[in-house]
Amino acid sequence: MTKQALCAAAQAMLERSYAPYSHFPVGAALECADGSVFTGCNIENAAFSPSICAERTAVAKAVSEGHRDFVRIAIAGSTEQFCPPCGMCRQVLAEFAGDRLEVLLVNRRGQIRETTLGELLPLRFGSGNLE
Ligand code: THU
Repeated sequence: MTKQALCAAAQAMLERSYAPYSHFPVGAALECADGSVFTGCNIENAAFSPSICAERTAVAKAVSEGHRDFVRIAIAGSTEQFCPPCGMCRQVLAEFAGDRLEVLLVNRRGQIRETTLGELLPLRFGSGNLE
């Protein structure tokens, strides 16, 4: 899938977002090595803590369907600013992806900023630290 198509898939998820408290819709599209794509949106909760981000929704869908080989994720915000993944989502992505995971941030205007998980989460804690 092209970068533009993956970003479009993430943007399409903005309308599925359930964000009645923050009014901050986020969409995500996670691409796996075999080309399969899993999408997600943020899903908030009146108790706040049970809310889940768009990225982790997509990761949960992928892993629960037997896919762990992530190569790229697009994250769509609905504002002028890019929506970088929160710390918890970075850590969850790092469980299944290496530093080279491509992270595409797309803003309301469709502009794309490219980064990597290695840039977003240097000196990560991982399974190798559990000696
Ligand atoms: N949010 C995401 O879905 N992904 C992020 O990486 C940043 C934040 C959501 C969580 C919450 O529903 C709303 O955006 C405001 O924080």
